[in-house]
Amino acid sequence: MKGQERVFSGVQPSGAQVHIGNYAGALKHFVTLAKHYETIFCIVDLHALTSVDESKELNKYIESLAAAYLAIGLDPKKTIIFRQSDVPEVCELAWYLACEFPLGLLERAHKVKDSRTKNVSINSGVMFYPILMAADILLYRAHKVPVGADQKQHLEMARDVAERFNFRRGDIFPVPEPLIDENSAVITGLDGRKMSKSYDNYIGLFEDSKSVRKKVMRIVTDSKGVEDIKDPDSCNIFQLYKHFSSTDEQQELRQRYLAGGMGYGVAKEEVFKVIEREINPLRQVYNDLIKRPNDLRDVLADGAKRARVIAQATIADVRDAVGVGAKL
Ligand code: TYM
Repeated sequence: MKGQERVFSGVQPSGAQVHIGNYAGALKHFVTLAKHYETIFCIVDLHALTSVDESKELNKYIESLAAAYLAIGLDPKKTIIFRQSDVPEVCELAWYLACEFPLGLLERAHKVKDSRTKNVSINSGVMFYPILMAADILLYRAHKVPVGADQKQHLEMARDVAERFNFRRGDIFPVPEPLIDENSAVITGLDGRKMSKSYDNYIGLFEDSKSVRKKVMRIVTDSKGVEDIKDPDSCNIFQLYKHFSSTDEQQELRQRYLAGGMGYGVAKEEVFKVIEREINPLRQVYNDLIKRPNDLRDVLADGAKRARVIAQATIADVRDAVGVGAKL
């Protein structure tokens, strides 16, 4: 273990399953990090409440994400896998952090600014979201936080609040370092924008292969003909291909783009093949796990127990530092 440094990250159970953008941008890195660090990965159901209304749906999404964590190869004996709401101390810490954090900074969050520009109303949870996320990270005194580029601003806020808290209240938290892999910081979706549930441009990680193929065939390209020379670097198909292939395979496909004579349909078949090669074995494990909700719940219950030990130690220090909860 690298100097006992702790890695923490979270994923929202906000859809029937995670997509391959979450996988290539974050989840895949979790598995590598688990080999070298103490790791904690959370299913952030409280965050998902900002967008999911149906409690039954939310429970399904949580099970699906638990199965995904296991299917990609995380070992729950080594890694703590747990549901955020099972450790309620996170809400308490979020309050203490909120009392240190200027409202003006929350108002600058992309999502809040976006909603203002588009004149759509948001719930207060959306505004408070970065504080709860900072509480996740700081409650577990994490040193490193692997995320995709879209979480950069949230991580900056978490660092900021940790520094403010430490400065005013004493050294309680490590200042967390974002781990954003530049090669997979933003995975593009079928239309070339960031892959996202809200743009409906995603491929679900465990969708059946027929549906993956159908979606791959929908990837938007320019209108160059078969014989034309094509530019791999501006092509949405090639962008996806990069995350599921070796350097040699990328070189080879790149040459075919540059040589002309290859239609986009052929490139789409190539990307479908490499996605299937990587995902199909995981899909089989996932499909098996999702039929065993009791086993998934056991994993989460055990994870919560272990997470809570860490959380309670931190919260005791924080209460002390802010001056609440002491015997009078
Ligand atoms: P969420 O659930 O939106 O996404 C989970 C992870 O997937 C990454 N990701 C992507 N990476 C590359 N390309 C994409 N198209 C793409 N789409 C999503 C995200 O960056 C993220 O790493 N706020 C977080 C959840 C959270 C959290 C935390 C994360 C709550 N508390 C504490 C880290 C630490 C979120 O909404 O992720």
